[in-house]
Amino acid sequence: MLEWLGDLFGLLWGAVVLVLSVDFLSDLLLLSVLYVVGRYVYVAFRGNIQSGKPARSFKLSSEEFGAGKELDAINPATNEKITTVRAFTPDEVNECVRRARVAQAEWAETSFDERRAVLQDLMHAVVEQQDTICHLSMQDTGKTRMEAEYGEILTTCEKIRHLIRNGEDALKSESRGVPLLLFLKKAWVEYYPMGVIGIIVPWNYPFHNVASAAVAALFAGNSAVIKVSECSLSSKDYFEKLFRKVLAARGHNPELVTLIVGEGETGAALVKSGVDKILFIGSPAVGKRVMEGASANLTPVILELGGKDPFIVLEDADLDHATEVALRGVFVNCGQNCIAAERIYVHNKILPKFEEVVAKKVAAFRQGASVNGGCFDVGSMTMPRQLEIVDELVQAAIQDGAKVLAGAKRDEKPGLFYRPTVLSNVNHSMRIVNEEVFGPVMLIIPFSSDDEAVRLANSTEYALGSSIFSGNAARAHEVARRVVAGMATINDFGVGYLIQSLPFGGTKISGFGRFGGAEGLREFSRQKSVVTDRFPGVLTKAPAFTKYPIPENGPAIVKNAIHFFYGPESPSGLWAKATHLCAMLQLLITLK
Ligand SMILES: *[C@@H]1O[C@H](CO)[C@@H](O)[C@H](O)[C@H]1NC(C)=O
Ligand SMILES: *[C@@H]1O[C@H](CO)[C@@H](O)[C@H](O)[C@H]1NC(C)=O
Repeated sequence: MLEWLGDLFGLLWGAVVLVLSVDFLSDLLLLSVLYVVGRYVYVAFRGNIQSGKPARSFKLSSEEFGAGKELDAINPATNEKITTVRAFTPDEVNECVRRARVAQAEWAETSFDERRAVLQDLMHAVVEQQDTICHLSMQDTGKTRMEAEYGEILTTCEKIRHLIRNGEDALKSESRGVPLLLFLKKAWVEYYPMGVIGIIVPWNYPFHNVASAAVAALFAGNSAVIKVSECSLSSKDYFEKLFRKVLAARGHNPELVTLIVGEGETGAALVKSGVDKILFIGSPAVGKRVMEGASANLTPVILELGGKDPFIVLEDADLDHATEVALRGVFVNCGQNCIAAERIYVHNKILPKFEEVVAKKVAAFRQGASVNGGCFDVGSMTMPRQLEIVDELVQAAIQDGAKVLAGAKRDEKPGLFYRPTVLSNVNHSMRIVNEEVFGPVMLIIPFSSDDEAVRLANSTEYALGSSIFSGNAARAHEVARRVVAGMATINDFGVGYLIQSLPFGGTKISGFGRFGGAEGLREFSRQKSVVTDRFPGVLTKAPAFTKYPIPENGPAIVKNAIHFFYGPESPSGLWAKATHLCAMLQLLITLK
């Protein structure tokens, strides 16, 4: 493998940056030049990933929607109806799963090279079709173009790149150690495809949520049936075709990836359909119903159930940096992120300055419908009901004494626009601090010691991500260590998501199981522990005293052996071990 060339250039780049401390733009330029040179050399030697020629051509099916209830796709930023589609009925869901199973049986036999080839085509298709993917995502959710580029495209490409490069490492068999007693054995773990993965994703990233789960499922040798939300209907058809065209062009069954739409009934049908694993991303309340439904077939589940992430700014933090990152952590995607910075804890000493800076910046935010062109900082919200919830929580907090530094009301524009809001004088007796807001609201909560920050951070039921800001790396890490969460980021927000080698997921009511990283791929795999003889032909025969009929002295031999192997290793313990060894040998001799 020549992959290391890329790494070499990366290191070189790091060294140059350190030595010259040039500004970011020149870094980026230099990186780009070195990267292109590195990849050029690599590709020249190895060539692009190849797999077998398409064996057959598959016709793409024309039935993209079900025969169930009619659902309207509304653009939340303009209130315009885009289209009407029909939900999948439970019978149709079962039929999709059946077909996905047929497709998977063949796919499971493909080599990693073949899977890499499909993923590479897919990545290139995503890069080519950025405009359309972004447009559809904006149209479905009201997000801005920048949010679409970052959240839908960049994250997806990086996930695919990571799988192409590192996926196989996570899934190849892994050797495991054996105990002294069984030194003639050799052991390892093997990973096999599971079958059909049932995936239920929310609307906040209509493309990325689908693509991210689908590529991981595919790479691990599975097929995927993915239920998208009733709030991301208009993009479903295009996204499905994107996958299916790439698969069909390589001669694989396009039904390896199926997208279905519908409401609760459709999701419930998928959960009970007998799929081999379920990945559910949504709320704790629905997560419980998913787990309940999955229990009928004992289908294993991964649950990612949202968060209420703390964002802790200690008094020695770089304030410019912390405010800038806090704004992104709160307002990106209009706050509709499971890892949104939902609770900003700011040390009392820097509180006035922090509030002044964020209030000023938020007041200058441009908000609008990116889908019609134009550059905006914040878009609209996506779900009518969620906008009501956000406003309800904000108004209740104001009643309870929160101070409005910005926003706190709906915008007059048509569409689901909620003004970017900053509330200070917020504390834990308010509902808004304990419930997931999922909207463009910054809650500033003061604290005066690290202990207090940790106590407050730990006091919600959610525990997904966390951010800690400090000028002292050791102190920041100590706070990060004590905050109960599935993920911690020091002096930044959310960047872990672009590091696809890391598992993603939470604890407490934020759920369990992981996607992303080796852990995520293994969650989509059946594991098998394998044991064989270390030296072929040398069988490890069971000792005579364990054979039927069990001899009288058998148990005493085992007892002495246990003392010998597992007894304490202090000086007197070693003496005891020796005595037990002698006793054991004596018994073994009498056995004959
Ligand atoms: C929360 O803030 C309100 C308003 O300032 C105050 O009345 C209340 O006592 C505070 N509660 C706690 C637990 O600090
Ligand atoms: C986090 O805080 C909770 C509640 O205060 C506490 O029960 C828990 O022990 C804390 N965890 C750690 C690791 O400090």
